[in-house]
Amino acid sequence: MTKKRLRALSPRYNKKRWRKFLSQDVDGTLHIEGVSVNALTKKYGSPIYIFVEDEIRSKLRTFKAAFDYPMFQPQYACKCNSNLEVLKIAREEGFEFDASSVGEIILGLLADFEPHQITFTNLYKTEQDIYFASEVGVKAITIDSFEELNKVINVAEKRRTIIPIMLRVNPMIQDGKFTTRNQKYGIPYKFVSKAIKKVAKHENVRMRGFHYHGSYAYNPRSYYLALSKIMNLVKIAKKHEIVVDMLDFGGGFPPEAPKAYRPGKYFDAEEFAPGFIKTFNKLLEKNDIQKPTLIFEPGKSMVATAGIGIMKVVSIKDLGKKYAAVTDASTYSMFPDVLVSKCSYDLLPATKMDQRRTQKYEIVGSTCDCIDIIDKNEMLPWMEENDLMAVMDCGAYSYVMASNFNNLKRPPIIMISEDGSTKLVRRRDRYSDLFGPELDVLKFADPYELKKYYNLTRVNLEKVWAGNENDARANNGEKKKKSNKNKLEQK
Ligand SMILES: Cc1ncc(COP(=O)(O)O)c(C=O)c1O
Repeated sequence: MTKKRLRALSPRYNKKRWRKFLSQDVDGTLHIEGVSVNALTKKYGSPIYIFVEDEIRSKLRTFKAAFDYPMFQPQYACKCNSNLEVLKIAREEGFEFDASSVGEIILGLLADFEPHQITFTNLYKTEQDIYFASEVGVKAITIDSFEELNKVINVAEKRRTIIPIMLRVNPMIQDGKFTTRNQKYGIPYKFVSKAIKKVAKHENVRMRGFHYHGSYAYNPRSYYLALSKIMNLVKIAKKHEIVVDMLDFGGGFPPEAPKAYRPGKYFDAEEFAPGFIKTFNKLLEKNDIQKPTLIFEPGKSMVATAGIGIMKVVSIKDLGKKYAAVTDASTYSMFPDVLVSKCSYDLLPATKMDQRRTQKYEIVGSTCDCIDIIDKNEMLPWMEENDLMAVMDCGAYSYVMASNFNNLKRPPIIMISEDGSTKLVRRRDRYSDLFGPELDVLKFADPYELKKYYNLTRVNLEKVWAGNENDARANNGEKKKKSNKNKLEQK
């Protein structure tokens, strides 16, 4: 196959963050790391998620290198994209692991993180969860409330062990629209000294430090406000002879995708880290505090821009006042954050990159729900059935939150590397994945009964049609031969 010459994206789509891995060919078809979207859908079907490996690595690397502090240890917040291949990449890039459930701890272990590289930071844990995390030997369990502290002490005493903990605090900070005051997580600031006192008395818990996560950061100031409050807590801990050896400021950094997550201004780690580290060092020195390990837990800012959803137009509907482009994807099965966080994504006409945008479309998902709208108002070239579209920057909080609403299968994930090689890192759902939990309790139903239907859905219609044509041609050929034979016989 001759390779098509590739060129830079058309100026209207040529955004800095995409230049590293997107290009287009002379026919106006989008290429990712040099591979055309047509080739990708031919190999893996539609719709699909593509994750760009080099983009993930580069974001992780840049974040880690930005903090010039000897005891800096970033952790990847697994909740935003817990694909095992992504976790492996995070580990290879020197990140530790932030888990928010027992399931995520197990995933971390499957991705070969050592137990001492995992923190367990969910806001609610059962005694069984705590038992599991302690048995595994995680780095620290965050304590979100007095009730949870009691639970941890109880488990530690019963196991006759010492459980390492961090007190998760709500510093009650406010900066313009950003506030932690009504957040559900963390021990409210005014109760933390009481919690420190309690922890200081207990031999079965080892207080390692404090944890804060402020959700979406509108701007860097929130981290400074939290730092100042948390340093006061470190001083209180010191009075109780607790040596704090870990301070964790959570995630919340904005991704380099302004359309996808809107609350505030974009800032990156390179812009943020030098000032933060300077203030951090100053406060440690001023208060004569030993340098603790400094942790951040970025999630979406590491992976959002690496994710691309490829979907196919299955119908163009004239709705009178507007045109709807119906796709084979859905907000439910593929882009749930459009519904959950009201975020929107940039969208590219992947097979018509060089055509003029002349028509406004509502890009809709294929479920029955009227709110299943991927994009309300997009100027695009004239779209037709089988055209492909690319939904950009959807690498975070997408497949991890996607559902099977309308019994749609969630798409597969393909990791693409810089040299254009591709790897299937999650397969497309099967109907047995969707129905299994119910069939398992319906003892009379035999899953194999469904196999024939399952196979029916896997029929490749193009091959069937092509087969019929071949049959038809073959039959015609047969008839011709026969009639020639007849003619000869008649002679
Ligand atoms: C404790 C904790 N750390 C880190 C994160 C990651 O946040 P983000 O994806 O906004 O960086 C979250 C997100 O919910 C979280 O709860």
